[in-house]
Amino acid sequence: MKIAFVGKGGSGKTTLSSLFVRHLAATAQPVVAVDADINQHLGPALGLDEAEAAALPALGEHLPLIKDYLRGSNPRIASADTMIKTTPPGTGSRLLRVRENNPVYDTCARSVELDGGAARLMVTGPFTDADLGVSCYHSKTGAVELCLNHLVDGRDEFVVVDMTAGSDSFASGMFTRFDITFLVVEPTRRGVSVYRQYKEYARDFGVVLKVVGNKVRGDDSSDLDFLRAEVGDDLLVTVGYSDWVRAMEKGRPPRFELLEDVNRRALRMLEIAADATYALRDWERYTQQMVHFHLKNARSWGNERTGADLAAQVDPEFVLDESVTAAV
Ligand SMILES: Nc1ncnc2c1ncn2[C@@H]1O[C@H](COP(=O)(O)OP(=O)(O)O)[C@@H](O)[C@H]1O
Ligand SMILES: [Mg+2]
Repeated sequence: MKIAFVGKGGSGKTTLSSLFVRHLAATAQPVVAVDADINQHLGPALGLDEAEAAALPALGEHLPLIKDYLRGSNPRIASADTMIKTTPPGTGSRLLRVRENNPVYDTCARSVELDGGAARLMVTGPFTDADLGVSCYHSKTGAVELCLNHLVDGRDEFVVVDMTAGSDSFASGMFTRFDITFLVVEPTRRGVSVYRQYKEYARDFGVVLKVVGNKVRGDDSSDLDFLRAEVGDDLLVTVGYSDWVRAMEKGRPPRFELLEDVNRRALRMLEIAADATYALRDWERYTQQMVHFHLKNARSWGNERTGADLAAQVDPEFVLDESVTAAV
């Protein structure tokens, strides 16, 4: 199951992503955690110290390897140089699975020990000021999109992505790559405005969007009332202000089993909501959407950049799904 946490900066995406990853790991479920936010904080939130976080390999720096591996023997993709972030898999492409070992994980993922389990962690890599200008920034998050488009994941295995909610995720097809998107919202007007924008983009693409209220105070009901009034049925659950999180922020995370009961229940709710989307899966539509965004990117910049007709990369017969076996 592919799960995104989005929301405005500071709302708690990284915190909730990391708690959800810890929850899955503690229940012995395979999980790949991906930091795709401009502010790379997921490693530390999973307990890495500064040196460990800094030593993580960056997806953005291994694009040639990732592209070459995924391309496999796909005859429609002549070289890794013509592969852009939206290039879809086809016959001959190599696919990724959550539980396997492969050169992409060997090079770009690290195992992080968590209470009672472990997770694979992949990070896009730090963003410099220059990146935020244009192309490199996209190529960094582009590595995540490329991997998601080549991933065949089953029901009891998870990829959890800590994302930005900025308009960048709408320029590409990234926001359509998830079984469920958790939009983290603080009970404020600005938090809610991100919800409106996201909802509008999501509507046309069948994106399953659920709001997770964060830093919601329980002492009176005004926070909850506010969120209910603003987002209605899209509100899935709320997370309170957590002393466990505060301790973690100080670099002293208590054992995960000591997380407040109410917040543990919230994490369980997220898992149940994610699982319920399994029945909605439609690999055909999923594949069509990646083709849609690929053609759009090809026209707007890809053809020009690569000097190739990238529409020719589309394999009209190919449908990604759980039964596809990788060509090795
Ligand atoms: N439920 C919570 N309880 C206590 N502190 C929280 C909670 N959620 C987030 N925070 C704190 O708020 C700050 C921003 O959270 P973070 O997860 O980094 O946001 P984002 O990733 O959306 O930018 C961090 O200092 C984090 O520890
Ligand atoms: Mg963050």
